[in-house]
Amino acid sequence: MALVTAITDHYSRGNLLARLHAALCDDGVDPAHPTMETLAPYDQFHGRGMEATRELADAMPARPSDHILDVGSGIGGPARFVASRFGCRVTGLDLTPEFCDVARRLTKLLGLDDQVVFDAGDALAMPFGDASFDGAYSMNVSMNIADKAGLYREFHRVLKPGAWLLLSELAQGDAGGPDYPTPWASTADASFLATADATRHGLAEAGFDIVRLDNTIDKSRAFADRSRAAVARGEKPPHRAVMLMHGEIAKPAMANVARALEDGRLIPIEIVARKR
Ligand SMILES: C[S@@+](CC[C@H](N)C(=O)[O-])C[C@H]1O[C@@H](n2cnc3c(N)ncnc32)[C@H](O)[C@@H]1O
Repeated sequence: MALVTAITDHYSRGNLLARLHAALCDDGVDPAHPTMETLAPYDQFHGRGMEATRELADAMPARPSDHILDVGSGIGGPARFVASRFGCRVTGLDLTPEFCDVARRLTKLLGLDDQVVFDAGDALAMPFGDASFDGAYSMNVSMNIADKAGLYREFHRVLKPGAWLLLSELAQGDAGGPDYPTPWASTADASFLATADATRHGLAEAGFDIVRLDNTIDKSRAFADRSRAAVARGEKPPHRAVMLMHGEIAKPAMANVARALEDGRLIPIEIVARKR
């Protein structure tokens, strides 16, 4: 319970909707009429933002009749994108109640609330029946979850036989852990990084076949170069979710991740797996 509170306190600072409205107004966007594009700098709360979500969606063999699960759905950007791209239903599950509230509000504003719903809850005790989903994905969430075997067991339980699982996350490299804060944890106590090998073995052990596991560091570097170039031109950086969510700790948190990616302490990975 102490860990759950540490995680939700880290993510939830209150007044998120008001802060998002202010950010949208500053962008010249009417907060009552946002679009997927105008929300994208804020509602894609993971490295490389919408670019990474599009790539993950490219790897999803999703169909309009599918019901897909997003674990650790944040304020719902990836879930809305996937639902709108495939015309399918998406259920988001997130530990942070404020994120679920904001996710529902934004989803209604975008007219997607008949396709996308959000439940507040723990990925280690998913409030869903066995074999409920045709596919599942999770973006930058497992770093908050110590019990990886429990997480993979829950994915396996709620997926139908043969269903796909896509994960995009940061793995532990060879050279020690990152400095803190990071965007997912204020201190090392709430951060649980696994190596890519441990992730591969854990998923196999839980009953998944690994279709592929990619190191996407080159994409992270290219995105960082483009962001720096945008700022040098006097533009806003393309990815502003960490600043929106975390306020004053955003700058050191992003700098710590950038350094750890550069020196191999963190490795961005994408995994495509299938339930056996
Ligand atoms: C870095 S954010 C990513 C949000 C979203 N996946 C995205 O990419 O926009 C991590 C999210 O994981 C959620 N989370 C952390 N631990 C969780 C758990 N045990 N169960 C469900 N959600 C969890 C947090 O509340 C937070 O919203």
